[in-house]
Amino acid sequence: MEKARIIEIPRIVDERGNLSVVEEDGLVPFKIKRSYWIYDVPGGEHRGGHAYKENCEFIIALSGSFDIVIDDGKERNVFSLNRSYYGLYVPHGLWREMENFSTNSLALILSSTDYDVNDYIRDYNEYLAYKKNEE
Ligand code: TYD
Repeated sequence: MEKARIIEIPRIVDERGNLSVVEEDGLVPFKIKRSYWIYDVPGGEHRGGHAYKENCEFIIALSGSFDIVIDDGKERNVFSLNRSYYGLYVPHGLWREMENFSTNSLALILSSTDYDVNDYIRDYNEYLAYKKNEE
């Protein structure tokens, strides 16, 4: 099973301000089909709390910081994102939650599939059963 991992995004450092770019050149391990962003998150809120059967993600903290909790049914890992030149690759089939959003944080999520409500597993026990079935 593939694991979630942090990927460094190239930086073009410039006195006028830095620039980072993500394109379909192999840095992100899937073809980007969709992008969305999460912003104006009230203090203490969390997002996510689900798994995707097919969809893979690449999550970037474009501004501010937040934590992403990744759970494969056996092990939980927390990845903190706080720089716009690091992204977290989340392969499909992992439970993920997002929490500890700082004020004015902005999360960009690049996704491998179109939005599909049927691709979500939103119940943790259902997720555990799904994982068990896959083994
Ligand atoms: P959801 O993925 O559940 O957000 P989170 O996991 O961060 O809590 O999406 C929240 C709502 O937004 C849900 O009603 C579906 C809608 N939505 C779309 O219409 N298209 C999309 O691409 C996404 C990601 C969500």
